[in-house]
Amino acid sequence: MITPRKAVLKMAPYHPPSGGRAGMLRLDFNENTVGCSPKVAEYLRDVLTQPLLAVYPEYEETRPVLAKFFGVSADELLLSNGTDEAIQVLVNTYVDDDDEVLVLTPSYAMYRFYAELAGARVCEVPYEAETLAFPVERFLREIRPETRAILVANPNNPTGCGIGLDVVEQILNAAPHAAVLIDEAYFEFCGRTALPLISRYPNLFVSRTFSKAYGMAAMRMGCLMSAAENMAHLRKAQSPYSVNLLAALAAKVAVADTAYVTGFVAEAVASRETLYRFFDELGIHYWPSEANFVLFSAGERAVPIRDELRRRGVLVRDRSYELPGAVRVTVGRAEQTERFMREFQEIW
Ligand SMILES: Cc1ncc(COP(=O)(O)O)c(C=O)c1O
Repeated sequence: MITPRKAVLKMAPYHPPSGGRAGMLRLDFNENTVGCSPKVAEYLRDVLTQPLLAVYPEYEETRPVLAKFFGVSADELLLSNGTDEAIQVLVNTYVDDDDEVLVLTPSYAMYRFYAELAGARVCEVPYEAETLAFPVERFLREIRPETRAILVANPNNPTGCGIGLDVVEQILNAAPHAAVLIDEAYFEFCGRTALPLISRYPNLFVSRTFSKAYGMAAMRMGCLMSAAENMAHLRKAQSPYSVNLLAALAAKVAVADTAYVTGFVAEAVASRETLYRFFDELGIHYWPSEANFVLFSAGERAVPIRDELRRRGVLVRDRSYELPGAVRVTVGRAEQTERFMREFQEIW
């Protein structure tokens, strides 16, 4: 056996619960519960030819289109193989062995994953105990001269809570020496973005994904945006062909069909309200969300409820290992939310 790096030896294996999901009602991964825009699927069917697949991808057609869509210049934008690669490239660009990376808990697991993989020390600041609100004062106090990266989801997964741009600016001002990532994977469901701040804060990075509202998780497509000088460094740290051509072409078509995404988002947001009323009627505690999921408390029964729903063809995500009793359910179309509520009520 060849001994791996110390950082890898120390890491716990990550097992996403992703097997056997086909044909089920997928309310467990915060994906688009319907699918991508039909125009994207149609375009891919048309464009897919043998010669196309033989050629290494070129991004010149896509990068300016996405930059324009996000309101940045092309040299301020990096295409990435999902947000995950954006996090990895950012960490690899700025974080050395034993540097400190500041994150919150509970939050998106890949922040800790890539920071640990890089050999960093991960400093976790817990969200407020009862409300799961962002702990502004405690978080700012944890920013130290050795903090090299700060990774924040806004709104956060799995809590659903978000922070205002005033708090984002407080973090940016407190950490001029650190790369600050504001991960806006759920932007479309909340409508608040730190993107306009990139021209004022050279330490700000904003990521977006096509995996959630756009319904393209299988394609693995994301974008990272920051000042052009930063991007020049990040490009050096990225593999030249990490985004496949079909994903790059599909993203271009996806942003042209804003009506599809806006329509789905409106349905998901309405479902979120329906779910609040449902939980209120049953006296179930939940945390109001700015994203396409709601975290609720199932008390002692989080795991049995997840398992029983699965037996009935409905997938939800148990989060009780990090927040006692918590279960996360993704919202989508009205009829999908109704199905969840029907099945849930029978077993509650
Ligand atoms: C906060 C957050 N960021 C990023 C991602 C993953 O995004 P991608 O599929 O673009 O890698 C997720 C997925 O659950 C997430 O919750």
